[in-house]
Amino acid sequence: MKTGCFCERRVSDESLGMSEVDSRRGPGMEVPGEKRWLRNHLLSLKTLSLVVLSVQTSTMVLLLRYSRTTSTHQPYIITTAVLMSELLKLALSLCFLHLDSGKIMRVTLKRLYEDVLLNAWETLKLAIPAFLYVVQNNLLFIALSNLDAATYQVTYQLKILTTAIFSWVMLGKRLAPIHWLSLCLLMLGVSLVQVDGGNANRSTSKILPEVEAMEGADPSLLGGAEGGEAGEGGGEVHPPDAHNAAHPNTEVRRLLGILAVFVSCISSGFSGVYFERLVKKGKQTSLIIRNIQLGVFSIAFAVMAVSGDSRAIRENGFFQGYSLATWLVVLIQAFGGLMVSVTMKYADNILKGFATSLSIVMSSLVSWLALGDAAPTIQFVIGASIVISSTFLYGVTPQRESEIRESTHHAPSASPHKVRTRLLALHSCRTTHTHTHSHTRRQDD
Ligand code: C5P
Repeated sequence: MKTGCFCERRVSDESLGMSEVDSRRGPGMEVPGEKRWLRNHLLSLKTLSLVVLSVQTSTMVLLLRYSRTTSTHQPYIITTAVLMSELLKLALSLCFLHLDSGKIMRVTLKRLYEDVLLNAWETLKLAIPAFLYVVQNNLLFIALSNLDAATYQVTYQLKILTTAIFSWVMLGKRLAPIHWLSLCLLMLGVSLVQVDGGNANRSTSKILPEVEAMEGADPSLLGGAEGGEAGEGGGEVHPPDAHNAAHPNTEVRRLLGILAVFVSCISSGFSGVYFERLVKKGKQTSLIIRNIQLGVFSIAFAVMAVSGDSRAIRENGFFQGYSLATWLVVLIQAFGGLMVSVTMKYADNILKGFATSLSIVMSSLVSWLALGDAAPTIQFVIGASIVISSTFLYGVTPQRESEIRESTHHAPSASPHKVRTRLLALHSCRTTHTHTHSHTRRQDD
């Protein structure tokens, strides 16, 4: 077992690249102890990021939904919450940079000046994902103001499809037949969940009372400050069958939620591949610096978004409607963003898919049992199961082969010999795994 794990770590280490320290030191300046530590802990880092990311995703989705639907406060302004989390992310990244510079202010400032200001072209490259992420983060609030947690998460799994397409277009990553099969299954599962007749009720059952109370209150559909979904008495839950599923507002809200998720999927796929490429193969591979570069633009775009709500802010203040839940959402959103970047650097976008799948199960149960969202129908359970299985199917071993080919293909020192060596390492690793696995099974028997 040990040998198998070592092989996997070796392959991962080489194909995924290097530590933050290594990437700055450059070749020939590695510290053997640190490298060994990273090699020994890469697998546990991956597992840890998987667990932390799935817990973070579930908590985030549930808290966000809670903060938009169950709070007794007046609704907070979405754009301000997004700006707050971007500010927090940048502040945390600056702290990490300071720690990474040995807590010497002069070194921190020098790195900021050289890597962010002087290296303007590399910094500018982050403007694209920054814009998309700010739009996506605003859409996340709109989606969860209009859809239940489970429908949101299952539909959002379509980002695996968009990630695959962008990886193919932008990185030339070839997909194995099993990946195409799992992507087809993914679409089937999402369609089942969407076609599920009960979903019109599932998605908006929690907010219908307020919608009904506001005659023609269309601004709420955008999930903005004027929105009434979190109005007084928002905690009251009406059973889904007490409302007509064809209620026009219900349908419109649901469509708006789904549209927000679809656009987020495209943004997530593109930005994920773009950022992963930058931190693994760009000129600047330091994750901390990349996050700071991203943060600078994200804040600029988030401020522009806030200016669209200037009238509401002038009337009732920037922090109107903020509750403890809102602050927790801001905190978890910021922490989650940094966690996502760590996963992209030390694992990949596929691992992110796994994490979300696990969190679907957790948040579906909690949103049903604790938040009063409607109970899952059989069709929903089947659809969600297909989506989760397809995610796992997508992440099975052959993906590594294509990753290795792809990463070696893009590496400056790529050679057919290197590709063969890595694939051989992977193969022997798999053989060892199978061998050890059957040996263990024999022992168990
Ligand atoms: O759903 P998805 O994985 O695309 O979500 C990405 C999230 O991670 C977004 O909220 C984005 O703002 C955040 N992120 C970040 N820093 C990065 C990459 C992503 O905060 N370097």
